This record gives sequence, structure tokens and C-alpha cells, in this order.
Amino acid sequence: MTYKTREWRNSMRVKLDFNNMTDTFLGDKGFSAKKLASYSSRANQAFRYVKENRGKDELYMGWTELPYNQDAIVADILQTAKAIRNKFQYFVVLGIGGSALGPIMAFNALCHLHYNDLPRSKRKGPKFYVEDNVDPVRMRDLLDVIDPAKTCFNVISKSGATSETMTQYLIILDLLKKAGVDVKENVIFTTDANKGNLKKISDEVGGIKSYILPDGVGGRFSQLCPVGLLPAAVLGIDIKGLLAGAGYMDYLCRQPSMRKNPALMCAVLQIAAMEEGKNVGVMMPYSDNLKYIADWYCQLWAESLGKNVTLDGKPCNVGQTPVKSLGVTDQHSQVQLYTEGPFDKVVTFLSLEKYGCEMPIPHGCENIPDVSFLGGHTMEELIQAENAATAYALTKAGRMNYTILLPELNAFTLGQLLFLFELQTAYAGAMLNINTFNQPGVEEGKKATFALLGKAGYSEKKKELDSLPAKDPACII
Ligand code: PA5
Repeated sequence: MTYKTREWRNSMRVKLDFNNMTDTFLGDKGFSAKKLASYSSRANQAFRYVKENRGKDELYMGWTELPYNQDAIVADILQTAKAIRNKFQYFVVLGIGGSALGPIMAFNALCHLHYNDLPRSKRKGPKFYVEDNVDPVRMRDLLDVIDPAKTCFNVISKSGATSETMTQYLIILDLLKKAGVDVKENVIFTTDANKGNLKKISDEVGGIKSYILPDGVGGRFSQLCPVGLLPAAVLGIDIKGLLAGAGYMDYLCRQPSMRKNPALMCAVLQIAAMEEGKNVGVMMPYSDNLKYIADWYCQLWAESLGKNVTLDGKPCNVGQTPVKSLGVTDQHSQVQLYTEGPFDKVVTFLSLEKYGCEMPIPHGCENIPDVSFLGGHTMEELIQAENAATAYALTKAGRMNYTILLPELNAFTLGQLLFLFELQTAYAGAMLNINTFNQPGVEEGKKATFALLGKAGYSEKKKELDSLPAKDPACII
């Protein structure tokens, strides 16, 4: 790894503090050293499974190699991103799920929180939007604020068969045609190398710039391939730093012992907690910049672990419901429940040692002690104190929580965090003996949508829907 110096990399190490999961802090509500040790054999098997299968496309584990095998792609992306920055006023991602949450998360994490409102001279790239829904109002409103002729549209879909993304594409295609713009000039695809409709479209039209979503990389594990790298590069995010951070976390997690491997320990903590009835996993960043990593994580954790059959075909219903929560905002909304409600949650705090700025709090209101004590501190001190205080209050109430601590937020530490969660998910899935990388449970809804919209080949499904009993008006009140 050549990214900056070793000292710098070590100073930027993301750390796990799981003290508040242990009996030392939680008494009989916490894990004893013996209890954690009882998971070492399963943890070891999971570690070996991931180690032996890493990089295997047929198992959808190609994502493990993304930090190492993309030099040529990164060079191409950087060049394309520069051209986009020079040519376009707007950059719009059309995608959903794994094809959208990564770009949203990285944008929010590493760009100004009011990026689109900044004047062009203060933005590194064009105005940026990710359209991950088919709410017509949202599309109308987007079209009110962009000029399609001055917009680069990045259509991201591995299958090219996702109704939501393809609907958006059809609308954009029509608008570009009406504006007399050559689609090749304003559209970039990110899709499968060989299959799928975007591939067909690009072959037909010829010359649409296309990036490959590699075979062995599923949507929710795709942030570190062109799905996430192109939008990030357009925004001026240091994509080499992101990949270097991911590689650094991968290096830290090459340790077979869960006591030394943070991703493996996170997986063990979560699985052990789940097996004690903690069916809710709260992801609570104390940082507005990290707000959308909770969304990204929720998909990763929910879609990967929510399964009804084991790898050897036995029925199971496993998984943990991920919940997003923002510190300190949700202290005033959710923490009452976390502290006094059912003992069914594990809270993961994402904490920053250093924020992007300190923001001093001026002295004032000297006659009102309730207010004046704040003066002379900084907002950084306040948010950190509230984070520590919430962890303390949860622990005092016997509630499991642990902290992932970032020295600061930059591309390198974000890359570490992403890879930590991806590895944690892969280990957890292996411990549960399930297929972590498929999502058969979302298919039924897709098929029903096709049937409702009259897609060819779905007439049987339509009959099935039509055969439902008539709704009982008594149940509609
Ligand atoms: O994680 C996943 O695999 C899904 O969320 C997909 O990313 C999502 O369904 C979009 O699929 P596609 O990229 O084929 O349009």
C-alpha cells in the first residue's frame, strides 16, 4: 500500500471499543469473557470461510478484491470525472438499492452538507442528485431544478431490468431526444459486463460510455467499484483514499483471532446479541456527515442476513432489524425507548475523535446559568459529551452498545468503515450458515409489480393477484 505514510495510516486507524457489551460494564446483562470465547469456534469457521472464498465471483465475493484490482479503472474514472466536471452543471445518478445508497452515503460523508447550495467556485463538481425512487413528484421536482441538456446522467443497474431505474432512464431518454441531445453525450452506464438490458442498449446505440459492475459484486457490496467510485470522483472525493482505507481495514482483519480482528468481533457481538433476543440493531452515528452510512448499512445488514433457509437447505428465519438513528438528534426522539424499552437492541455508535471544525460557543446570557455554562466550550466538545453521556446512560440501564471510533472523517477512514461493515456482514452470514449475498425475498414484490403493469410473461401472476378475496369493507375504517 503506498497511500501516504505508514505513520499517517496508523494514526487514522478506525477502532472498535466494545467495553459496553461486557459484564464488567453491564453486569449480568453483558457478555462474560467465557461467553465470548464460546463463539470462537464459529468465528474461526466464519473467518476461514471468508478467507478461502474471497474473490470468488461465483459466490459473489468479488468485492473483497476491489481495493486491489482496479488501477486501470480508477485511472479511467478520474479522467472521465474531470471531463464531466468541466462539461456539466449537474450530475444525476439513476439507480436504486445498492446502486444508489453508496453514492448517497459517500456524497453526504465527504462533501459539504449544503454542497448543492454552494456557488460553483466553492464546489469541486457539478450539482449532484441521486434519484432512487419513482415518486412522480420527485421526478417532476428534479426536472424543475436541472437542465437535462447540461446534465450527465449516470444510469446504474447491474441487471438493467429494475423497473424503477429503467423508468427513470426512459423519461430522461425522451427528454434528451426532445432537446436534440445525443444520448451518448449525456449518459453513462454502470452495468454488468455481458448481460442485462443496459448492455443491450449500449450495444444498440453504440458508444455509450459504460463502466462495469463486476460479476462477483452484488449491489450492496458495490460502493467501492465504479458504482460508487465514478459519482465520488465527479464530486472530487479522493477515491484512491477510499480504496486504500478499505485495503487497510482488510489488512487489520487478516487476523484469525476475533480479539484482534475488529470485523470478526463485531460479527460475534451482533450474533451473540441476536441469539439472546436482541433483534434490533441500531446504527447511531454522532455526525451529520455519517447520517447516510446508517442507510447504507441498513441495506447491507438487512438484505444480507434476513434469510429463511440455511446453506444446507434447512428452514430458518434469521436476521436482525437494522434501525437508523442520528446522534444527537434522536436522543430527543428514540433514546427513551432504547434506555427503558424492551431489552431487544444493540446500539452501534459511530463516533468521531475530531470533527471537521470545532465551532466555539461564545460566552453570553451570563445571568442564566442553564445557558451560560455552555459558553467557552465548543460544539465539538458538546456533541462528544452527549455521545459519551448517551453511551453511559444506556450502559447504566443495562443496554448493550459499542462504539466504532474514527480519528476523523476522510476518504481513508470512510473506506475503512465500509470494508469493516462488509466483512462484518460476510462473517455474520457465515456464522449463520446462510447465503449472505442473494436477496430472493425481494423477488415476489417485483413479479407482482410486473403483473400489475401487464408485463409479458406474468399473466399467471396476474391471475394469482386477481384471485385474492375481495377486501372486506369492515376492515377499511
Ligand atoms: O443489493 C442489491 O443487490 C439490490 O439492492 C440492487 O442493487 C437493486 O435491486 C438494484 O438492482 P440493479 O442494480 O440490478 O438495478
